[in-house]
Amino acid sequence: MINVLFVCLGNICRSPMAEAVFQHMVNEAGLSDQFAIDAVGTGGYHVGEPAHRGTQKVLAKHNIPCHSISRKINRNDLAQSDYIIAMDHSNRADVLSMARPSVIDDKVELLLSFADDTSLSNVPDPYYTGSFDEVYRLVESGCAGLLVHIRAERGL
Ligand code: 4NP
Repeated sequence: MINVLFVCLGNICRSPMAEAVFQHMVNEAGLSDQFAIDAVGTGGYHVGEPAHRGTQKVLAKHNIPCHSISRKINRNDLAQSDYIIAMDHSNRADVLSMARPSVIDDKVELLLSFADDTSLSNVPDPYYTGSFDEVYRLVESGCAGLLVHIRAERGL
């Protein structure tokens, strides 16, 4: 099983969107039995809440289901995940501060490092910008590149 964990700040806007989009791509590729996909926040402000209405709306527009309930990252997540995919540099730094570099450095990446059609490295936070459609395009591109990367690395 390949464990992929998406990380943002509140776990209500960006990482639930990435989780849903990536799960959809994995399903379409017929690889769902090979992956365990989840999303968490580095902050606990919205624990127990469903995804933000903007994330739910943009996913519904693309016929992608969303079942996320916000939770905060914990140390088990770090140990269990093979790929920890942060939405921005700040999320990445927060994750890295939770463990010794030798333990997790190699598996913490930025989502947009896998996107080939943007110069952005951070997924802008739609909680503040309201730009859920723009974030969807970035997340889709990053997730597509991530799946190509994992398939190549794992020989899938
Ligand atoms: P997210 O967006 O990290 O993409 O889920 C945010 C959601 C909530 C807050 C910040 C960012 N907040 O401060 O409550």
